[in-house]
Amino acid sequence: MTSGATTDTIAPTPQRIGVPREIFPGEKRVATVPEAVAKLVKLGFAVVVESGAGELAQLGDDDYREAGASIAATAAELWSGSDIVFKVRAPSPDEVALMHAGQTLIGFIWPAQNPELMQQLAAQKVTVLSIDALPRTLSRAQKMDALTSMAGVSGYRAVVEAANAFGRFFNGQITAAGKVPPAKVFIAGAGVAGLAAIGAAASLGAIVRANDTRAEVADQVVSLGGEFVKVDYEEEGSGGGGYAKVMSEGFQQAQRAMYAQQAREVDIIITTALIPGKPAPKLITAEMVKSMKPGSVIVDMAAEQGGNCELTVPGEAVVRHGVTIVGYTDLASRMARQSSTLYATNLFRLSEELCKTKDGVINVNMDDDAIRGLTVVKDGEITWPAPPLVAAPKPAPKPAAAPVAKKGHGHGEASGPMPAGKLAIVAGVTTVLFALVGATAPAEFLSHFTVFVLACFVGYMVVWNVKPALHTPLMSVTNAISSIIAIGALVQISPMANAAERPNTLIMALAALALVLTAINMFGGFAVTQRMLAMFRK
Ligand code: NAI
Repeated sequence: MTSGATTDTIAPTPQRIGVPREIFPGEKRVATVPEAVAKLVKLGFAVVVESGAGELAQLGDDDYREAGASIAATAAELWSGSDIVFKVRAPSPDEVALMHAGQTLIGFIWPAQNPELMQQLAAQKVTVLSIDALPRTLSRAQKMDALTSMAGVSGYRAVVEAANAFGRFFNGQITAAGKVPPAKVFIAGAGVAGLAAIGAAASLGAIVRANDTRAEVADQVVSLGGEFVKVDYEEEGSGGGGYAKVMSEGFQQAQRAMYAQQAREVDIIITTALIPGKPAPKLITAEMVKSMKPGSVIVDMAAEQGGNCELTVPGEAVVRHGVTIVGYTDLASRMARQSSTLYATNLFRLSEELCKTKDGVINVNMDDDAIRGLTVVKDGEITWPAPPLVAAPKPAPKPAAAPVAKKGHGHGEASGPMPAGKLAIVAGVTTVLFALVGATAPAEFLSHFTVFVLACFVGYMVVWNVKPALHTPLMSVTNAISSIIAIGALVQISPMANAAERPNTLIMALAALALVLTAINMFGGFAVTQRMLAMFRK
C-alpha cells in the first residue's frame, strides 16, 4: 500500500495525504487546515494540498506551505500522487476515475444513500473510510465524530440565520424608546444540532423551548438554558444508539396539537428532527405556518432529508404566509473556516488511530471496532454495513455490603445513610450532652444555646435544599445576612448603651467604622445576589 516502498529499506516510506479542492457546488469547506497539517507531518505523513483548496475557508496556499504541506497545481496531480485522500463531500464520478488501486479515501460517503458510488469505488480497488459510519456510541470514537462537530456548527448557524431573517432582538430590552420583549424560540429535536441551537439562542437572550421524542434529553435541554416541552402522551421515543424511532399515530397526533400551540406562541422555530434511514418527520404543517405571527422565522435543518416543515424548499429561503422559511442545506459550509477546523481535527484524530506507530504509514485494522465501523470498502471489497457492535459487558454489581455512594448537594459527595446502630450511639451521646448542658449552664446561656441549635438546624435544612447551581448567589446573600454584626455596632454607638458610664469615643468611633464597612458588605452582597439571580431569570 505504501507507494514507493522499496524492499532494501527497513523504515517504510511515509505516505502522502492529499487534500483536493472540494468541487461540489457551493461547498466551502476543506478537509484539512494548516494547524492539522503540522500535526500530520509530526505523525510522519507528507501532506499535499491542491492549490486553492482552502480559499473559500479563508486559507491560502501559503498558509498550508508554512505548515509543511506541498501544493499540487491540479486535481489530477493531487489524486495521482496521494496514498490517502482526505475529502469533505463524497467524490464525483470524475474524481473516482482519478483514483488508483491501493489508495485510501476518507470523507463523508453516506454508503446507504450512494450504492452506485460504492460500486464505483469498489471497482477502483481502493479502501474507503466513511466518516459518517463511525460507531458514535463508542466513547473512544468521540474525538473522530465529524457528524457531531458538523451538527454543532450547523445548529449554531441555524440560530444565526434565524436572527438574520428575524427583524427583532433576541433578548428582552428596556430602552428609553420602549420595552422590547424577548424572542421566543422553539426547537424541534434536541439532538446534537438542536442542543447547539438551544445554547446559541439562549446565550443571545431568547426564551428557548424544545421538544424531542427521546425523553432522556430533557435534562440536557434544561442545562443549556432551555425549557423542555413534553408531549402529553406516554411513549418512549428511543430507537437505540441514541437515535429516535418513528412514533405511533397516537403520539404524532398529540405532538401535532402541542406543536400547533407552540407555533401560535413563538417567534422562531428551528427544526432538527431526524430518524436514521427514514424521511424527516413532518412536524410543522402549512396550517401551523399560517398561524404564526407575521415576521416569524422557521429554520428547517432537516431540509435535505425532506424537511420537518411542509412548506420548506430545500436549499432556499422562502416567505410563506408572512413567515420566512429557511431551508438551507449547507449550514456547516456557511461557517467554512470553523467547520473545516473541526473536521480537520476529527480527521487528524482518525489518522492517529490509523497510524499508532507514528511512522506516516496507516494500518486499517479491521479488528478495531471504530475502524471496522468506518471502513465501507476494503481493498476493493464492500465491507459496509459493519456487524453491530457487541455491547460492552456491564460492570459487575457492587457487593451488597459496600456502602452506597449518594450524590451530595454540595461540592463533594455525601456518604450513604448511617447504619442504625451508629445512629443510636450518636443520638444517645447528643442527648446526654444536652442534658448535662441543661443541668449545669446558667438560664441565660440556655436560651441562647436553644436559639443557636435551632438556627443551625433551620440553616442546614435551607442550605441543603438549594440547587448546586444557586450556591454562588447563596454564598453572597449569606455574606450579606452575616452583616447582622451591624446590630452590635448600633448598640455600641447608641448613647443609651453608654449612658451608665461616660461615652467612650474610641468605642463609638470603632462602632461607626464597623457600621460603614458592614453596610458595604450588606448592600454589596444583596446587589451581587440580585445580579447573579438575574442570570437565571428570563
Ligand atoms: P439526529 O440528527 O438523527 O436527530 C436529531 C434529533 O431529532 C434527535 O434527538 C431525535 O431524537 C429527534 N427526533 C427525531 N424524531 C423526532 C420527532 N418526531 N419529534 C421530535 N424530535 C425528533 O440525531 P443526532 O443529533 O445525530 O444524535 C442524536 C443523539 O445521538 C444525541 O443527542 C446523542 O444522545 C446521541 N449521540 C451519542 C454519541 C455518543 O454516545 N458518543 C455521539 C453522538 C450522538
